[in-house]
Amino acid sequence: MKQLLAIISTVVIITSLVVIGYTFRQVQDQRTSLADDLQLRTALLADSFKESIRPSYLTNSTATLQSLLDKFENREQLLGLAVYDSKGVLFATSAELPNDLTNNNNIDTAEKAMAGDDAQGDFAKFTEGNVYVFATPLHQDENVIGALVVYQHADYIDAAIRHTWNNNLLKLLIQALLFSIAVVLILRWIIYRPIIRLAEAIRQARTGKYGHKSPIQSHAFFKPITAEIAKMSQSLFLARTAASEEARMRLEKLDSPWTAERLKEFFKAYLKDRKIFVVSNREPYIHKKIKNEIQAVVPPSGMVTALEPVMEACGGLWLAHGSGDADRLTVDKNDKIQVPPDDPKYTLKRLWLTDKEVKGYYVGFANEALWPLCHLSHTRPIFRKEDWLEYRKVNGKFAQSLLSEIKDVQRPIILIQDYHFALLPEMIKNSRPDAEVGLFWHIPWPNAEIFSICPFRKEILEGILGADVIGFHTQQFCNNFLETVGKEIESVADLEKFAVTHKGHVSNIKPFPISVAFAAEDDNDIPPKSSVLETLGLNPKILGVGIDRLDYTKGLLERFKGLEFFFDSYPAYKGQFTFLQIAPPSREGVEKYRQFNAEVTKEAERINQKFENNSWKPIVLLKENYTHEEIYPLYRAANVCLVTSLSDGMNLVAKEFVSARGDESGVLILSQFTGAARDLKDAIVINPYSAEETAEAIYRALVMPAAEQHRRMKKMREAVKNYNIYRWAAEFLKAITSLV
Ligand code: F6P
Repeated sequence: MKQLLAIISTVVIITSLVVIGYTFRQVQDQRTSLADDLQLRTALLADSFKESIRPSYLTNSTATLQSLLDKFENREQLLGLAVYDSKGVLFATSAELPNDLTNNNNIDTAEKAMAGDDAQGDFAKFTEGNVYVFATPLHQDENVIGALVVYQHADYIDAAIRHTWNNNLLKLLIQALLFSIAVVLILRWIIYRPIIRLAEAIRQARTGKYGHKSPIQSHAFFKPITAEIAKMSQSLFLARTAASEEARMRLEKLDSPWTAERLKEFFKAYLKDRKIFVVSNREPYIHKKIKNEIQAVVPPSGMVTALEPVMEACGGLWLAHGSGDADRLTVDKNDKIQVPPDDPKYTLKRLWLTDKEVKGYYVGFANEALWPLCHLSHTRPIFRKEDWLEYRKVNGKFAQSLLSEIKDVQRPIILIQDYHFALLPEMIKNSRPDAEVGLFWHIPWPNAEIFSICPFRKEILEGILGADVIGFHTQQFCNNFLETVGKEIESVADLEKFAVTHKGHVSNIKPFPISVAFAAEDDNDIPPKSSVLETLGLNPKILGVGIDRLDYTKGLLERFKGLEFFFDSYPAYKGQFTFLQIAPPSREGVEKYRQFNAEVTKEAERINQKFENNSWKPIVLLKENYTHEEIYPLYRAANVCLVTSLSDGMNLVAKEFVSARGDESGVLILSQFTGAARDLKDAIVINPYSAEETAEAIYRALVMPAAEQHRRMKKMREAVKNYNIYRWAAEFLKAITSLV
């Protein structure tokens, strides 16, 4: 719309300038020509009058002269006539001639004509309007004996010019209107519509909807482009067929890496395109109003990072809490929207919660009770009965929404995500025993002793045990869970199979170390420039990065302490090494998170004040959410990446960093309290509670020889590539659907 207005305004402005310029010239010519014509006509008239009145003037016959002047006056445009004697005294005037034309101030022209013995003409303004005053001398023999003055109306010249302007401006208005209509029609029919059709054809070609016979119809204007697109679509189709065939062949060869294609093939071959339903609290795309525009924002969430590629590969429906302020504006009447927004591959269904529900279920029970209970980071859980009741109610609400979606689906596969939905597996299974339900717990599971402080532990465990498969990141968390179940509820545990039978239903407990998609090799070829660094005007000699949600479990204060120790111990790095901490605020409804946010800022400021100079500071803290595309170049630019969580189920930042380092350089410093430390053994593993250990690790990383960096990074990359998110999904799906 904006572009259309811009084009129309440009056309209107240019047309107006041309018309105004042209009219300006036209009226100038018109004025000159009308004035010339008036002057000529008046001169001729005056000459003929002069001859007629001369005898009466010479004989001083006032009456005859008067009647002659009155007779002449009746001519069109003629305002009147006057005769002056040689002294400039008015001798006679025509009857209708207004007085002010002949008063003393207005006899210049007559005097000039007599003095110069030559006719004179002037345009002058009177109360009657514009008047052309023409004076011609009267002679006796050779002597000037007076002057005849002819007064002509000249207003019609201005009127004619006004008429021309009005005419041309009216024409301009009509032209502008017609041009605008023409522009709209041309853009719409010749450009906009064909482009939309073309874009749709390209999208279909890209997503492989119409195979290689993608029917691209377009205006002749775009023929050269459509021909190219048709060829490209064919090549894509062939490439896709080849990739799919290769993936199918690789299905049986478990040593080859899992890819999105392979997961798709696996899905088709073994699950026969059964429907997948994901349930999570956090949605993969949040629509927000940002500067008067609606934007789809990807939240900072390890769970979303992991699940999104799986849904893109398998399709299906993802049910989540609609938490964005523009979420309701973007869904259809069934609260659904196709995502990713620029290349839809699956359905997101949003469920709406009231403020009271969010406060009790999400802020209260999930984040003030279960989160600190499961993370060993010395934050005391708060158990409130009213939060628990909301938690139960919201689990029920999600269950109802999901049940209505699977109503007509046979044996649906349901992947429930995280600690927000401990009660959901049982709720679903009770209504739909044929559904195959997996629950993946994205955070640690503490030991039985710790879990026993939860007043609602029995209901939580029974709810979880409704799932057919319960997944954790590590074997340790599985052990803790089994131990907790054994301690808290009546059940039979099969330690060999790692299964629990409760109320006749068997749940398998298995570790599935979650991962990332692993960047394609191509993405790793060219190190992209970091727009984040450029915007900040940062060009550090040595760069360290940390990327975490602002969460007290991430060990940010401990990390900063480690940095302080580092600069104290190795002052030569002052001015050389900059640590960039990206920390988007999280769970701001929770008091503990607000406090933590302030503490992190204060600590960064304190350390900066201690070491900074005019052109450098040790810690750059950015509390903003950046996209994966913005973060990727930062990973590539960094010499070292710090992950210092005090307790973390997995930590996908560590795996993303490794995945981005196609150059096999850079060092990862990783807390021993992350699930990732079990998979990435070639990181420098530290205890983040020890600032000295963190400082030493930073120093070790910065002096690590390139060969050692390569050796370590290569091994870590192998690990992530080998167990990427597609493999995680395949293993989880196989377990849920009893394929293993
Ligand atoms: O990864 C654990 C997790 O709790 C996810 O479930 C969640 O999406 C993420 O952290 C971010 O937290 P939140 O969704 O509460 O912002």
